[in-house]
Amino acid sequence: MKDGDNSANRGIPQADLTGVSDDTLAVRAGQQRTTELEHSEAIFPTSSFVYNSAAQAAARFSGQEPGNIYSRFTNPTVAMFEKRIAAMEGGERAVATGSGMSAVLSTVMALLQQGDHVVCSTGVFGTTTVLFQKYLARFGVQTTFVSLTDPAAWEAAITPRTRMLFLETPSNPLCEIADMQALADLAHRHKAWFVVDNCFCTPVLQKPLLFGADIIIHSATKYLDGQGRCVGGVVVGSEETMNEVYSFMRSAGPSMSPFNAWVFLKGLETLPIRMRAHCEYASKVAHWLREQPAIEQVFYAGFEDHPQRALALKQQSGGGGVLSFRVRGGREEAWRFIDNLRLISITANLGDTKSTVTHPATTTHGRLSDGDKEISGITENLVRISVGLESPQDLIADIQRGLDAISQLSQ
Ligand SMILES: Cc1ncc(COP(=O)(O)O)c(C=O)c1O
Repeated sequence: MKDGDNSANRGIPQADLTGVSDDTLAVRAGQQRTTELEHSEAIFPTSSFVYNSAAQAAARFSGQEPGNIYSRFTNPTVAMFEKRIAAMEGGERAVATGSGMSAVLSTVMALLQQGDHVVCSTGVFGTTTVLFQKYLARFGVQTTFVSLTDPAAWEAAITPRTRMLFLETPSNPLCEIADMQALADLAHRHKAWFVVDNCFCTPVLQKPLLFGADIIIHSATKYLDGQGRCVGGVVVGSEETMNEVYSFMRSAGPSMSPFNAWVFLKGLETLPIRMRAHCEYASKVAHWLREQPAIEQVFYAGFEDHPQRALALKQQSGGGGVLSFRVRGGREEAWRFIDNLRLISITANLGDTKSTVTHPATTTHGRLSDGDKEISGITENLVRISVGLESPQDLIADIQRGLDAISQLSQ
């Protein structure tokens, strides 16, 4: 290499990352340095890029020459984030979006058309249900909702028009687990896409592509950021499929900002270590909770006696950081519990270093009809906690405060 030739430092060739562990991919994959040779990834806050000539502009627009054009669909910081998460999921390509919901929307709009049919689990994030049920139905895409854990119900729901199976596993907030390989096989027998929202596990705990998924969705807002700073989303899959998603994203514009992409890149660097700590702390809190008399039932994907334990062990390398539980009583008791917490934040986000508490029936799942809530198990006494990275002892003390407040109600 000649003096002054910085090319060797400009990025890490993918070949050098072959066979490295996920922890290394999280820190190193996708980085492309500028001629300044910055060690940390650069942010490119620019809406457009200049060309050397009119001919070069034309070549870029026609796709004859690769390179940056306009930040709605090409931005180097966003591209670094896309490459890193694609490497971590084991996918060929990723397309970043402005939110998790726009990742879902972009996938559906890119791949489905009027008359198509979707089978979706009842346990998905409430807004995903609203998107399918209310908005996509207006454009002629019908959805049938079925139990996540009942493969026969998925099979029975398939019609000749079914083009997509969509689920989250574990489910939010009841931590039910789907048999991904069985549902992938079913989808592929019917020439349908199998789409998995991997928000709760992240690629650190679960890689749906290994179990037959075609497409992975993330709300990057959650664990990928991990510190509650930015809203974003991403879709991962094959080059061919992601070309379609990219084309929709380019045309409709639900893009990720370069600043947010930079935050997510930094978030990914600590994701493996954070996920391991979230699992350990959540497991401690979940096991303690199920011993408490004021608690009716606890849901946690890491329980040794979880009804789908075998699947959990096959698909996941940890129980994750989210748990939920039913307090004895109804909404009054659940709200009293929440209102008496002093450490855990009352907020709808999850996957943060700060633990958060939610009453799903009146927040995240509040727009579901009473019937849909019942089918989904979203009862008035259900509380969800996303266990952060505070000391589990301090979290348990805070939860005890909430439970004490419930017992005062009955005195
Ligand atoms: C599992 C899951 N998927 C998708 C979303 C939507 O993501 P966003 O809020 O980034 O649009 C959420 C949000 O809570 C979620 O929990």
